[in-house]
Amino acid sequence: MSDELHNGSITAGRKKLISLRGVSKNFRKNGKEITVVNNCNLDIAENEFLVIVGPTGSGKSTFLKMIAGFEAPTTGEIRLGGEIIKGPGADRGMIFQEYALLPWRNVLKNVELGLEFKGGKSEARNRELAMKYIDMVGLSSAVNKHPVELSGGMKRRASLAMILVTKPKILLMDGPFNALDSKTKMTLHEEITRIWKHERNTIIFVTSDLDEAVKLSDRIAVMNRAGQISNIFRNDLPRPRTGKAALETDFHNRFVKLREEVLNEVKAGAGKAVCEY
Ligand SMILES: Nc1ncnc2c1ncn2[C@@H]1O[C@H](COP(=O)(O)OP(=O)(O)OP(=O)(O)O)[C@@H](O)[C@H]1O
Ligand SMILES: [Mg+2]
Repeated sequence: MSDELHNGSITAGRKKLISLRGVSKNFRKNGKEITVVNNCNLDIAENEFLVIVGPTGSGKSTFLKMIAGFEAPTTGEIRLGGEIIKGPGADRGMIFQEYALLPWRNVLKNVELGLEFKGGKSEARNRELAMKYIDMVGLSSAVNKHPVELSGGMKRRASLAMILVTKPKILLMDGPFNALDSKTKMTLHEEITRIWKHERNTIIFVTSDLDEAVKLSDRIAVMNRAGQISNIFRNDLPRPRTGKAALETDFHNRFVKLREEVLNEVKAGAGKAVCEY
């Protein structure tokens, strides 16, 4: 399906950063070839906040992993700044569905890890940068704690700082706030929005929480059980989307309307599969 067919192609005047053309991914599962991502066409703009939703097993994580360069498309191509993506790179940071913290390192040492891989800076500078991002995600009081001592929300924050400290141009976030309590989630929504505005990075964010999708996104892409992008919704709701603004009747009505439209699209694309929406 062509991106132009959707009501959610890149906003005029924004610069294209990533483009997917005819992208499919097949895997062998139980001796059978399955198509997990199916002929996806999509452009993503610089500094865009794109959210991807869809039923479980619709290929969202696989989609992100291909942009990260961890998986290669079976057919089609993904370009970043005009160049075909051939593998992972320092310009992209991925936050996985599972935590990626090293259990034997404390928060500070985990966050420093990304910089150690990158090389080129002194130990003192690495520490200074790590502290800055730990502070940014609100974890200053837990720098010396090890992952086992952290709550789920703190682990998410530490993972976020670990990726942010490397200043990736593109942030790929796979359900980063899943299973967090709503208060922690709301705080992290404000933090990620602030970081995105400040660092001007491009975020591709997978979630099963449609409130989260509407709150954070510039556009919402819906994937269906066949691994296709069935529709893309543009989200023109003004920011900030929390606090006083969210209490305005007009804002609230538009918020709920968009969420309903996305929900209907997800349900339509879920087929007979169990759908968590
Ligand atoms: N390396 C692999 N080998 C074989 N099959 C795979 C592989 N990775 C993913 N799959 C299959 O591809 C399908 C899509 O998986 P994917 O993890 O991309 O879905 P998802 O949309 O992220 O699901 P969820 O919402 O549950 O996280 C699933 O059926 C999964 O079992
Ligand atoms: Mg997934």
